[in-house]
Amino acid sequence: MPRHLLNITDLSMEEIDELMDQADDIMKTPEKYQDCMRHKKLATLFFEPSTRTRLSFEAAMMELGGNVLGFSEASSSSATKGESVCDTVRTVACYADIIAMRHPKEGAPMAAASVCPVPIINAGDGGHNHPTQTLTDLLTIRKEKGRLNQLVVGLCGDLQFGRTVHSLMSAMCRYKSIRFVLISPKELSVPEYLRENLQRDKVSFTEVERLEDVIGTLDILYMTRVQRERFFNEADYVRLKDSYILDTEKMAMARKDLCVMHPLPRVNEISRSVDSDPRACYFKQMLYGKFIREALLMKLLEVKA
Ligand code: NCD
Repeated sequence: MPRHLLNITDLSMEEIDELMDQADDIMKTPEKYQDCMRHKKLATLFFEPSTRTRLSFEAAMMELGGNVLGFSEASSSSATKGESVCDTVRTVACYADIIAMRHPKEGAPMAAASVCPVPIINAGDGGHNHPTQTLTDLLTIRKEKGRLNQLVVGLCGDLQFGRTVHSLMSAMCRYKSIRFVLISPKELSVPEYLRENLQRDKVSFTEVERLEDVIGTLDILYMTRVQRERFFNEADYVRLKDSYILDTEKMAMARKDLCVMHPLPRVNEISRSVDSDPRACYFKQMLYGKFIREALLMKLLEVKA
């Protein structure tokens, strides 16, 4: 059975540490790794839009000396002819050594993995999970804060549909002394199953609506976009889309060592004026994403430098 990455908890904390160490080493000495994936192929199957995730996966494979194939929209695949996801991956597994898949339906990569003879990486499934974004986020936090425990982590925006938040919470609640501050309008608060998990694991958390009231207490502020594509009606989206806008006035209320993160793309939730603040880490975050994906491809394909 191949090793897949469907949920972030498919990886132990030790394995995540090893991936981060590997990513650090790739950053320091990229030339050591430039041929390790020779003759290997990554297929990127993106049934939903993407910029960073798909291109960073492709760049990661290329920097390791491998090749890439795939599609970037469902409309250019046989999905439009009615082919199932399971049949699509059975096909692609004949042509590629590993698959990164993004799909609008929650659980699609899991279903695909059940029939797939090569590793499948979940690159985002609907409003559910996004484990490789979480690897990116954990590496960012480790690099910026020097630790992954004893942190007050504010998650702000669309906590209902934001899959990056769901995976990040599942990952971070395994570290010691984490306190979550969940900042959202009531209608966009975290799904009940995640709240139950926090209670079960005795992880400290509070839920608030106003960012101003809590920004001064945070070590990390993870901003998210209101997920327009997951709304049932446009009027609700329009009403909620500008619930939070992080600007220089709010940044003035924050700690000097706050780390502001965002999985990107941003819409209005972080004002452009914040970009030049040294506490804005979201552009570094997306760069780290390429290196941690290189480490992940190496792990799942059991390739060494
Ligand atoms: C996120 C996603 O696709 O869930 N983007 C990403 O992969 N960096 C966040 C989003 O789309 O809002």
